[in-house]
Amino acid sequence: MKKYLLYMVQVHLNFRRAELESLADLYNLSIDFSQYNADSPFFIVELENDKQAKDWIKRSILTRGIYEYWGQGSTLDELHKDIQLQSNFEQDLQLKFKHSTFKFEFECYKGNSKANRVKQIETFRYLGFEGKIDMKHPQEVFTVIEEYTPISENVGGKTPTRIFFGRQIQMSNRSAMEKYDLKKRPYKGTTSFEAELSLVSANIAQVKPGTIMYDPFAGTGSFLVAGGHFGSLVIGSDIDGRMIRGKGAQVNISANFKKYGESSQFLDVLTMDFTNNALRNNLVIDTILCDPPYGIRESIKVLGAKDPERFLGKEDVEIDGEKAYLRRDYIPTKKPYALDSLLDDLLQYSSKRLPIGGRLAFWMPTANDANIETIVPMHENLELKYNCVQEFNKWSRRLLVYINRGSTFNGPSNHGMKRSKDNFRDRYFNNFN
Ligand SMILES: C[S@@+](CC[C@H](N)C(=O)[O-])C[C@H]1O[C@@H](n2cnc3c(N)ncnc32)[C@H](O)[C@@H]1O
Repeated sequence: MKKYLLYMVQVHLNFRRAELESLADLYNLSIDFSQYNADSPFFIVELENDKQAKDWIKRSILTRGIYEYWGQGSTLDELHKDIQLQSNFEQDLQLKFKHSTFKFEFECYKGNSKANRVKQIETFRYLGFEGKIDMKHPQEVFTVIEEYTPISENVGGKTPTRIFFGRQIQMSNRSAMEKYDLKKRPYKGTTSFEAELSLVSANIAQVKPGTIMYDPFAGTGSFLVAGGHFGSLVIGSDIDGRMIRGKGAQVNISANFKKYGESSQFLDVLTMDFTNNALRNNLVIDTILCDPPYGIRESIKVLGAKDPERFLGKEDVEIDGEKAYLRRDYIPTKKPYALDSLLDDLLQYSSKRLPIGGRLAFWMPTANDANIETIVPMHENLELKYNCVQEFNKWSRRLLVYINRGSTFNGPSNHGMKRSKDNFRDRYFNNFN
């Protein structure tokens, strides 16, 4: 086993471990998380080899990179001593890279001048590297990572409190955030979900290449894009045909996939009420990832009539000799539906359609009311694996992730229970006062 240093971002701390665990599980890696510190950007782990480190981190969004661990210290001098004290210093670290082309990189305080960095690099002379320095395509990148303790909440420290040194093994997938940035996306709307957390959601949902991912409340297709990025074949549906059609041939979900060069991942989207689902029963859906309607910017509706009596006898209405409801331009009536029922339906559908071990992941907003417990929907065949909360000022939203354990699981269920407050929308727009 070898030591590796994981260097993570300091945002969405509640989601970082879930992402790391899910990716480790996806690649069958057993990682000891006992030293994981939820507040620290660093995590030292043992892995068998570089391949494991690469597999683990190449998809990660909340990590910056993983490095072969060479040492650490609170000053440069201490760091150098620590490097030379590593039991594998000569054999595995120093001699192996003696003739490789290389460069040094710094992850540190922006004010660290170039001249100062050169001075710092000079202090690593004892490593005895004889290969050429290559700034463009080096065989090895050695990285100095500095940790700073903030002076106060808003003022960062200027002197490092800890310095790490390592050989870069794999940079993460964070660059995808720029590629999928909503600002540059042709088709988006008020319900579009930001790139970073949609990619993180897809990682925690373990969306994988060659599988089918379904978003039943696709809207403008943010989660479909994230699923496609990780190689899944994606299908979406939405009750609102305007969402599905977009704003013309160049501004719709399919156009987004085209822009990203990932049209082959896009199976299709259809206008459909999730609760009257038309996807055939034996279609294997490996992952369900979505952001259900909460009545904030979109209504919760299902097919049907609020007042069925008004429509009695109208089934037979014909236009030009054709039954009205069979015509292409027929707009079916819709009626409001309770959020709790919709989520019950989503869990039930997932339990029937996902393979054993398949994941359902969805977002759920909640008001941060003191003394009111958030009740998470539960289904007897689904294990609630993660409940990752993103806090805003007066409300929060959480990513709930379930694993289908099958009919023998017998977990807790709260099907049919009234869990959510009715007036979330009003309170959201009144700033929860
Ligand atoms: C929060 S939005 C999802 C936004 C989406 N993630 C995006 O990227 O734009 C919820 C969506 O669910 C749709 N919806 C509401 N009721 C539905 C139903 N019964 N079946 C399918 N879609 C429904 C709404 O039209 C809305 O587009």
